Amino acid sequence: MAMADQIPLSMTVNGRTRQGMGEPRLTLADFLREQAQCTGVHLGCEHGVCGSCTVLMDGEAVRSCLLFAVQAEGADITTVEGLAPDDETLHPVQEAFRDCHGLQCGFCTPGFVVSVAAFLEANPDPSDAEIRHGIAGNLCRCTGYQGIVAATRQAAAVMRGGE
Ligand code: FES
Ligand code: FES
Repeated sequence: MAMADQIPLSMTVNGRTRQGMGEPRLTLADFLREQAQCTGVHLGCEHGVCGSCTVLMDGEAVRSCLLFAVQAEGADITTVEGLAPDDETLHPVQEAFRDCHGLQCGFCTPGFVVSVAAFLEANPDPSDAEIRHGIAGNLCRCTGYQGIVAATRQAAAVMRGGE
């Protein structure tokens, strides 16, 4: 495709303005990985099934492989790299995944962490059934999900201020 078909892109990524150029068909996932250096955005299926590319767009969990970068023009994007409050501190969901063995190979983990963080913002005291429903859009090939459910439970308690 000719350079003339490239269009300017601008959005906030993890609190910082990111500008770039891309073809209209450039996905948000590819923009984040290749132009915003957010390689924590993992690409598994690239068609909306696995959830490993999940990011927050204006606070909502979205699959960045299913969105074009132009659809995020002017939006506020948070990737797994931007969840923690600073370089020294993990987000409670990250801490809980570490504590509860919620990951093995780690490929699915950024998507789970972002999905769970958004889920707990909306549902701070979920039952196990609600947790399983809440993570149903993310696939993990390694853990069997028990550790992920336990991690979500722990993170919920911490985020409610219970521990
Ligand atoms: S890579 Fe986006 S849902 Fe699988
Ligand atoms: S930890 Fe390997 S796919 Fe989830």
